[in-house]
Amino acid sequence: MQHLAMIVAASENNVIGVDGDLPWHLSEDLKRFKKLTMGHHIIMGRKTFDSIGRLLPGRTTVIVTRQKDYTFDGAKIAHSVEQAVDFAAEDPCPFIVGGAQIYLAAMSLVNRLFLTRVHTEIDGDTFLPKIDWSDWELKSSVSGSAEVEFTFEDYVRQNG
Ligand SMILES: NC(=O)c1ccc[n+]([C@@H]2O[C@H](COP(=O)([O-])OP(=O)(O)OC[C@H]3O[C@@H](n4cnc5c(N)ncnc54)[C@H](OP(=O)(O)O)[C@@H]3O)[C@@H](O)[C@H]2O)c1
Repeated sequence: MQHLAMIVAASENNVIGVDGDLPWHLSEDLKRFKKLTMGHHIIMGRKTFDSIGRLLPGRTTVIVTRQKDYTFDGAKIAHSVEQAVDFAAEDPCPFIVGGAQIYLAAMSLVNRLFLTRVHTEIDGDTFLPKIDWSDWELKSSVSGSAEVEFTFEDYVRQNG
């Protein structure tokens, strides 16, 4: 496997979720998510899968859960992030797509980071885990404005 990527959208104060859902509707970000992840494995926690509620077309969904009897037709079920990554061994760039518990568990494994910084401070209940930014090199940064202002930031892990 050449890469393992994390993709996340976070507010200025690092909120990523509220009440089991995304705190915003940002169509540009959904388009970027689709473009980047198309054809790849998307690895997500069971709560994020519940929030999406369906398989996303053109991608292989891997759901991470501790429930031994959990199944969903058409999805792969993993009982750790490491096992989920193993399922994607033939994929040149699987994506860790959240939520907070799975980002935290995968943080030391990923070597690419696609961050959408949403330029607002909001209340929420789920946060981006702390990132040691000295590990990461910013490769590109593109700002835009739609429902809210945002910046797409692409990082690679230093020496990663
Ligand atoms: N802004 C963004 O980019 C973004 C992206 C994704 C999600 N989100 C938001 O994040 C929130 C959900 O995040 P969350 O942190 O609450 O939940 P989550 O990470 O999506 O899922 C948590 C679940 O994953 C399973 N799990 C966690 N760690 C595990 C481990 N080490 N081994 C095996 N299974 C494990 C458990 O499932 P079981 O309980 O089934 O055992 C746990 O309840 C929602 O609000 C969602 O909208 C935001």
